[in-house]
Amino acid sequence: MAQYKIPVIPGDGIGPEIIAEGKKVLDAAGEAYGFDIGWIEYPHGAEHYLKTGELISEDTLKELSGYDAIYLGSVGDPRVPPGVLEQGILLAARFYFDQYINLRPVKLLRGVDTPLKDKTSEDIDFVVVRENTEDLYVGVGGRACAGKSRGTAEIVRNLYHVKFGLDIETDADEIAYQIGMISRQGTERVIRYAFELASTREKKLSSVDKANVMTDIYGFWREVFTSVAGEYPNIETDFNFVDAICMWFVKNPEWFDVLVTPNMFGDIITDLGAMIQGGLGLAPGGNINPDGVSMFEPIHGSAPKHRGQNKVNPIATIWAGALLIEQLGERDAANTIVGAIESNLLRGDVKTYDLGGSSRTTDVGDDIARRVAQAR
Ligand code: IPM
Ligand code: MG
Repeated sequence: MAQYKIPVIPGDGIGPEIIAEGKKVLDAAGEAYGFDIGWIEYPHGAEHYLKTGELISEDTLKELSGYDAIYLGSVGDPRVPPGVLEQGILLAARFYFDQYINLRPVKLLRGVDTPLKDKTSEDIDFVVVRENTEDLYVGVGGRACAGKSRGTAEIVRNLYHVKFGLDIETDADEIAYQIGMISRQGTERVIRYAFELASTREKKLSSVDKANVMTDIYGFWREVFTSVAGEYPNIETDFNFVDAICMWFVKNPEWFDVLVTPNMFGDIITDLGAMIQGGLGLAPGGNINPDGVSMFEPIHGSAPKHRGQNKVNPIATIWAGALLIEQLGERDAANTIVGAIESNLLRGDVKTYDLGGSSRTTDVGDDIARRVAQAR
């Protein structure tokens, strides 16, 4: 029997509740498909941080690098300022393991209502490939204040002068900035991954950028896209500005099959994607390093106000579990889990409040686990 060891970080808020259901369903899939999962629990999250001061140490990350895939619940807690846990745990892992793909399927399963009038599961079925380690997420930024350093008003005036040849008067005396950076290698590898994925689907790849305004960074993105596209002559491609993508996701989601996007825009458009597939409770994601350690999680946050009430929807996490097991090579088990989710949704008698039901988190997990067991 195949044996997998999977580190699991339940995290904060609703994290432990949804992860428990994900594990339940994966264990049921293991029983049906003849593999066994040894879960290795990690305490990282707000509680652990407040007690010990550790977010996630390099030692822990080193230890985790001995595995192929990590299962993550959610991080974020009102007792800790925004950004600390997200950067210190989630982004730390994405960067440390160089998980350069953030794979986010946007698929309206049958049985789910989309807020888009007249659209069905035929229309909403695409995958967003979000670059996951560069762009505005590189964490380069700062502040400058008149008096502390060179006058900031002067910096701003010089910038305008150098860039646009304009002499602009400003009295700005304090500025903040954040810099986006993409590398040729980082851009090429995510775009190539998206082309490979598109080759296995409808042979259509849409690129997302804002090359009309941020010409340096996204002009470069387009250049790299165009050069990789040369290797895939049978894939149809198009370029889209990110603001227009938001419009088309709502008006014509059926146009899309695979999209590839820089990190920041990918973050934003996948929340929109989640809504058109029925809500954040249904949207899974995978942080993937095809040659290293990947990490799977729901794309939603830790929803602290719902914590401990056994009421939130565990489906995003269960689906993320399916992506995880697929990454480990258990494709049939993964398909069965997604099928079981869909049959739960189609039946519609065991669903949480976000889908208009009143079932508990654990009821939904039980129902899907039972369907997985029966599907074999
Ligand atoms: C996501 C989240 C994260 C991100 C946050 C929590 C750091 O919004 O996974 O989409 O911005 O990537
Ligand atoms: Mg996000």
